[in-house]
Amino acid sequence: MWQLASDSGVLDENSHYCYLIICRDFSETCVVAADGSEIVGFVTAYRPPQRSSNIFVWQIGVSEAARGRGVAKRLLHELVALPACRGVQVLEATVTPSNSASRRLFQSFAANLSVPCNIAAGFARELFSDGEHEEEELLRVGPFA
Ligand SMILES: CC(C)(COP(=O)(O)OP(=O)(O)OC[C@H]1O[C@@H](n2cnc3c(N)ncnc32)[C@H](O)[C@@H]1OP(=O)(O)O)[C@@H](O)C(=O)NCCC(=O)NCCS
Repeated sequence: MWQLASDSGVLDENSHYCYLIICRDFSETCVVAADGSEIVGFVTAYRPPQRSSNIFVWQIGVSEAARGRGVAKRLLHELVALPACRGVQVLEATVTPSNSASRRLFQSFAANLSVPCNIAAGFARELFSDGEHEEEELLRVGPFA
């Protein structure tokens, strides 16, 4: 997962330690896509304690070679179908305005479920201390059953 995120050139590069924590403590709300023994896609997510009827997608990524084949959308469908997502009504993620592939993914996922995909303010650019990060808009897909 770290390698896929790092190779994407788009996702924030987090530490290996961060993925170890996610895999240990949030594995019930994470999914990987494998081609044989190779991981070609992943989604990491959690249910925010203050909004427990939501699932927040922290990162989703698919290897360049496996893109355009519906892997990411399937990962989202698998995610919300997990036992740990029982009772979830809204899927949220933050997306930079320039990431049209990601935006399209969440809109397409919403269309599949016949629910709205709303976009609101997320994290402003000034909140990122490096000064180079784009703002992150908040996408909310749902409510769904
Ligand atoms: C975004 C990403 C996960 C999509 O993965 P994918 O497996 O290629 O996506 P899918 O094949 O499931 O496509 C889902 C929908 O998005 C659309 N889509 C995918 N890539 C697209 C692109 N580059 N431009 C426009 N639309 C795109 C597809 O056409 C599809 O829509 P449809 O169902 O209406 O046909 C992948 O491009 C990626 O890993 N990007 C780098 C990491 C990233 O940006 N992650 C998201 C951060 S929030």
